[in-house]
Amino acid sequence: MTDRELVRMALEARAQAYAPYSGFAVGAAILCGNGVVYTGCNIENASYPCGICAERVAASKAISEGRRDFSALAVAGSSAALCTPCGLCRQFLCEFAPRLRVLCANQAGAFEEHMLSELLAAGFDGASMA
Ligand code: THU
Repeated sequence: MTDRELVRMALEARAQAYAPYSGFAVGAAILCGNGVVYTGCNIENASYPCGICAERVAASKAISEGRRDFSALAVAGSSAALCTPCGLCRQFLCEFAPRLRVLCANQAGAFEEHMLSELLAAGFDGASMA
């Protein structure tokens, strides 16, 4: 699985987005240690805070199937801007993969790589409560 292929899967996952309120479809694809990829899309709700981002859908699908060993995540939006994970998603992902590679893509498939530790500096984790 190349980075470009992972980005392509994120772009395709946007087809399932449920985004009637923002009109902004997002797709995500998360690569696990066994080579399996889980995809996700954003799912909005009339009660806006109930909505969930594509990244957390993809990661939750993997976790619920027993995979937490994430190595890379691609997220793709529907504009010319590169789509970066929101703060809530950064914290969610940090719980499982603080050294995750994050590929932030735009609708044309252009992308930039960031480390999650760079996107979320000094994130809160279990050690913070020790
Ligand atoms: N969204 C995502 O799914 N992932 C991101 O990285 C950024 C934002 C969604 C949430 C909402 O459904 C829509 O995009 C507009 O914010």
